[in-house]
Amino acid sequence: MSSNVLIASNRGPVSFTLSDDGALTMRRGGGGLVSGLSEAFKDSDMLWVCAALSDGDRSAARLAPGGRLDQAGYDTGRLRMLDIPPATFHRAYNAVANSTLWFVNHLLYNTPTMPHFDTRFRREWASYQEYNGAFALALAEEAAHGAKVMIQDYHLTLAPAMLRVERPDVRIAHFSHTPWAPPEYFSLLPDDVAAEVLSGILGADHAGFLTSRWAAAFMDCCAAILGARVDRAGRTVTYEGRTTRVGVHGLGVDGDALRARAAEPDVEARMTALKEQVGDRRLIVRIDRTELSKNIVRGLMAYREFLADHPEWHGRVVHLAFAYPSRHDLPEYREYTAAVQRCAKEIEDAYATEEWDPLILNVHDDYPRSLAAYRLADVLLVNPIRDGMNLVAKEGPILSPRCALVLSREAGAATELGADSLLVNPFDVSGTAAALHEALIMPEDERAERCARLRAAATALPPRRWLAEQLAALS
Ligand code: G6P
Repeated sequence: MSSNVLIASNRGPVSFTLSDDGALTMRRGGGGLVSGLSEAFKDSDMLWVCAALSDGDRSAARLAPGGRLDQAGYDTGRLRMLDIPPATFHRAYNAVANSTLWFVNHLLYNTPTMPHFDTRFRREWASYQEYNGAFALALAEEAAHGAKVMIQDYHLTLAPAMLRVERPDVRIAHFSHTPWAPPEYFSLLPDDVAAEVLSGILGADHAGFLTSRWAAAFMDCCAAILGARVDRAGRTVTYEGRTTRVGVHGLGVDGDALRARAAEPDVEARMTALKEQVGDRRLIVRIDRTELSKNIVRGLMAYREFLADHPEWHGRVVHLAFAYPSRHDLPEYREYTAAVQRCAKEIEDAYATEEWDPLILNVHDDYPRSLAAYRLADVLLVNPIRDGMNLVAKEGPILSPRCALVLSREAGAATELGADSLLVNPFDVSGTAAALHEALIMPEDERAERCARLRAAATALPPRRWLAEQLAALS
């Protein structure tokens, strides 16, 4: 059966766990991309093509002929999971997507030692090509004549051009959920790799980005590295006789769905527990995956500096920091997790008393507890080094009646939320410490007014609208 609208992404809307007795349990996939798209995918008749990420997923994929699953929980939605050989998957996902393309676009390299592109990288790159090829092939098989295919993110930069070769009749969109690096930094990549990534995306009819800043950086890279003809005002890139439109589509939150989820009994129970733990102290909240770009260590350093500068707040404030596990296959992430824990311990050692715990670090996944934290937050700290959008900055004001937002100017969300946030340079620890203080002493009425405007901005572009805009752009 062929589909008229297809989504392709590395991580799918659900994942499967295989228990010892061979039973499969299904659960919702994680991450910003998946939460955004899942909402729009529900009740649609789209086909979602994703990779099998675990043994559970692989078993589920093998159970279904051709790897296609009828998935409970998505009324008419359908899913095809690709069973890519684990070694190929590992090199494509961990080595190229997460350790190379993610690092480049988030400016994460410590350049005196990293990156180094050697023969090992060439093997990894070949796997990335193979992985992209598997997606292009599956999409080519599944797409109806003239179908619209929406390919997501840095895992799948080559798939648009590959699919175009197989199926010149389909309309292809690519969307980047991350920032895009300026050409001086993007050209750390080997020349042929940089060119292949850019021309891979240019295989699409429409290349989408979350903000105009990331779209402009992409166009700059196309001009500088490919020598493509770029019309910045008209947002088009012409390369090898084809023109790709570049679009900017911000992504917001479905406020009603989030509020409904946050009103459920498991969240209420965690609110009661949190209130007991924190008492009537003011609450500074952060919620992140333990991801290098999220800048958790500098956030903790800023809190420590704030405590050092403002003894009058000792005993009156608690920092509730959620640092959920992420990408533990990568040594950099394991080291970063350890650095977060070390910094947290230093704060505890320096300031904790019998009666007062200045910092509560949550390192285990507990989604309802993070929703409870949003509802109780006085201050929300979102200080990434760089971020495509950052949905935490949008979810907080939707659930909290009165939280002040301390926001990195390098997050895409700053474009939409900057006017009512306290913007910080994410590298400036002292500046962030001062912003935390300013947020805590902000008058109640100002805090509520700003929060109401943030809430309006955060819900202006719900995922369904974002998806509809993308589809319209392909028409
Ligand atoms: C975040 C980013 C997305 C990305 C996802 C991948 O949500 O915003 O751009 O696709 O991470 O996360 P994963 O856990 O699948 O590596």
